[in-house]
Amino acid sequence: MNSDLSLDFLRVVEQAAIACAHTMGQGDGRKSDQAAVEAMRSTLDSVPIDGTIVIGEGERDEAPMLYIGEKVGMGAKQKLPFGIEFPSVDIAVDPLEGTNLCSTGAPNAIAVLAGSSKGGLLHAPDLYMEKLVVGPNAKQAVSLDATVAENLRAIARCLERDVVDLVVVVLDRPRHAQLIEDIRATGARIRLISDGDLSAGIAAAVVGSGVHAVMGTGGAPEGVLTAAAMRCLNGEIFARLVIKKAEDEERCRAMGIADPKRVYTSKDLASGKGIVFAATGVTDGTLMRGVRFFGDGTRTSSLVMQSDPPRIRFVDTIHVEQSRMVRVRF
Ligand code: FBP
Repeated sequence: MNSDLSLDFLRVVEQAAIACAHTMGQGDGRKSDQAAVEAMRSTLDSVPIDGTIVIGEGERDEAPMLYIGEKVGMGAKQKLPFGIEFPSVDIAVDPLEGTNLCSTGAPNAIAVLAGSSKGGLLHAPDLYMEKLVVGPNAKQAVSLDATVAENLRAIARCLERDVVDLVVVVLDRPRHAQLIEDIRATGARIRLISDGDLSAGIAAAVVGSGVHAVMGTGGAPEGVLTAAAMRCLNGEIFARLVIKKAEDEERCRAMGIADPKRVYTSKDLASGKGIVFAATGVTDGTLMRGVRFFGDGTRTSSLVMQSDPPRIRFVDTIHVEQSRMVRVRF
């Protein structure tokens, strides 16, 4: 996919983040989500692509906008002269990752979008996924089938530190009681989060973030978006769908997944040649600050990445209100 689109995708996540940031702390997750979805949807229509949503807000009958299969981008609206085409792009979105984080003003809510050439992002069903996310140094040394202690010893060895100096992020859920006990037994430190294993996964792949691994079960769509980020950051996600009922297996097969029990890596989940990933902070977070409104304008903090050629940009944008004079402060 044409990496020049990265700045267009940046605009899309910035607008989604700004829209929902107005609702921060209002305790109304639906309102926050809706604001992000509407802003993302309308900004996407100004991007010069023939886009298809492959990971979005749900199936067509569940979501009025950004539903799976929806056509987005300028290509969905207008036809170019004969012989000229907008590039075909598959799009995965999470307009507001961490709805509750935004509605309570908690850290690490982000607006996210990833794009790839056609067929380059797994069409993941809305199931849970077992995940292990690590950075570049440890990716060859861990496995989803190893024990928690084995993986943590391997990560510590790769990072040239003791297990007790590791920080592992885990979603604070009853289903993780055993996992938390196993991590505690090794002496590693744990950061329990109420939501947002995608932004935690990104942090695990960035040296100096203070996060060394993410472990546990979270959403499969967030897993695909994490994989897209890992393709750009050279980190790794190991993942396996959680199949509880025969019906789950059916859903997987209907979405073209032949072996729902396989262990995926980032190259399986986000196989596209040119991956572009963009995220903007909604609330203050580990890697990005939240949206700041200051009268004359708005300031956003984003991460925009591409896999081919690899580029990682931290972008700080001041959006000046038209007809106002901005006073830029460093
Ligand atoms: P939302 O963006 O829908 O609020 O999801 C946030 C999230 O915490 C994800 O980061 C995570 O993968 C998933 O929900 C976990 O699901 P559950 O809340 O059902 O445990």
